[in-house]
Order: sequence, then C-alpha cells, then structure tokens
Amino acid sequence: MLLEVNGLTKAFAGLVAVNEVDFTVQKGEILGLIGPNGAGKTTIFHLLTGYYTPTAGTVLFNGKDMTRVTPPAACRLGLTRTFQIVKPLVQLTVLENVMVGAFAKIGNAKKAKELALEILEFTGQLACKDMLAGNLTLGMRKRLEVSRALATQPELLLLDETMAGLNSKEIADAVKLIMKIRERGITLVVIEHVMKAIMSISDRIVVINYGKKIMEGCPDAVCNDQQVIQAYLGADYAKR
Ligand SMILES: Nc1ncnc2c1ncn2[C@@H]1O[C@H](COP(=O)(O)OP(=O)(O)OP(=O)(O)O)[C@@H](O)[C@H]1O
Ligand SMILES: [Mg+2]
Repeated sequence: MLLEVNGLTKAFAGLVAVNEVDFTVQKGEILGLIGPNGAGKTTIFHLLTGYYTPTAGTVLFNGKDMTRVTPPAACRLGLTRTFQIVKPLVQLTVLENVMVGAFAKIGNAKKAKELALEILEFTGQLACKDMLAGNLTLGMRKRLEVSRALATQPELLLLDETMAGLNSKEIADAVKLIMKIRERGITLVVIEHVMKAIMSISDRIVVINYGKKIMEGCPDAVCNDQQVIQAYLGADYAKR
C-alpha cells in the first residue's frame, strides 16, 4: 500500500474539520476525493503533506509515518500537492516556476532546467516557458501548478481542484493530462467538483461530508448512493 490513512482527525476551535477518516491508496491508482464545499477535503491534503498536524490519527506513506513531517520533507519523500488557490511566483517566468519545483530534489541549476523543460513539454506548456507567470490565464496558471508539482518528481501527487474555473475544452485537456501523469507511473489523489471529470478518471472515489467519510467505491456505485445524492443535492432529491 502506498498511502494508509487511519483515524485522521483535525479539530479547529469549535469545529472538527476532519473526523476519523480512513482510506488507502494503492500504487498506480487514481483516487477521487469528493464532497460538498467545506467538507474537509483540502484539510485532508494539508494533513497528508505536513501543512497541518493531525489532532489524531496516522498517515503512512510507503510505510513511513508522515504525521510529523514538514511539507518540504514530505515533498522530498515523494508526496507533493497542488493548492486550490494557485500561487505561482508571478514575477518569475513559467520555466523558472517549474525549476523551483525541480530544486526540491536537484541541487544543480543546469539539471533542474533540463527537467523543467522536459516537464513543460510533457504538460504542453513549453511554448509559454518565457512568459511571466503573472500574465497567464487561469487555465494556464492551474496547469503551471501541476507542472511545478511534477517537477518535484512525486511518487504520489495530490491535485486540489485543478479544474475549477476552467472551460469545457480546458477540462477535457486536464482530464487527458491526468491520465498521462498516471501513465508516467505517478499515483494520484484528485479533489474535484467537476463530476463528469472526476467520475471518468477515478478508479475509486472517497466521499467526505462534514469531515467524515460517508462512502467509498467505484464511480458508478458512488453516483447511485442515496447518502451521496443527499449530501450533494439535499434530502428531497434523494427520495425521488
Ligand atoms: N485553519 C482553519 N481554522 C479554522 N477552520 C478551518 C481552517 N481550515 C479549514 N477550516 C474549516 O474546516 C472546514 C473544512 O474546510 P476545507 O477547506 O477542508 O473544505 P473543502 O472540502 O476543501 O471545501 P471546498 O470544496 O469549498 O474547497 C471548513 O468548515 C473550514 O471553514
Ligand atoms: Mg477545498
């Protein structure tokens, strides 16, 4: 098992944002993580990558306890995430942004640049390598976030709503890119509200509601689950 999450819990003052969540991720898999706004999905990514320390529970990555690691250490161990709110270094070019990712594991500028160029070709962003990141469209910024994460050479990549705000052509391209990333040998956990996309890419889906896992299964089973329909659309809809 690549990732094992057991009893993961995060309490903020007056609110349990993540409540005893268990799930596993196998090598080579794409796991979808869905749930209504505020369900606790992003908090789970913060907990897996050391941005938050869990109140309770354990995270094992390749058998190693991750519950006390810092984000840079998680990244060096092969566990990298993107951010829901994209934060490119706006004063740097696209290439330089991706080189920053590459420096997570590479100390040499020439080698970091080589890897960054290879990643930009892979993600289809080579043509804009010299543009300032601050001048990119939202779609390109979202993709740059993925490029930068890939340059850290992750074994497990966590994508947080990389399709939010994209048009349908950009969503179709993002779906293709995720499938290509998996073919590259990288395992993925993907948070996404674009249902059609998440259902088409995921091998398995975990559904979170009010901090708790309410369902886990293949996309078809999740779509037809009454509890999931109720969480998303309300009790009235579920009864129909
Ligand atoms: N640092 C924090 N302090 C207090 N409450 C927080 C903090 N971070 C998140 N929360 C709360 O935890 C809950 C879960 O938030 P989270 O961002 O994980 O949800 P989400 O599932 O990613 O939602 P969305 O789909 O809108 O991105 C929310 O109620 C949020 O307000
Ligand atoms: Mg979120």
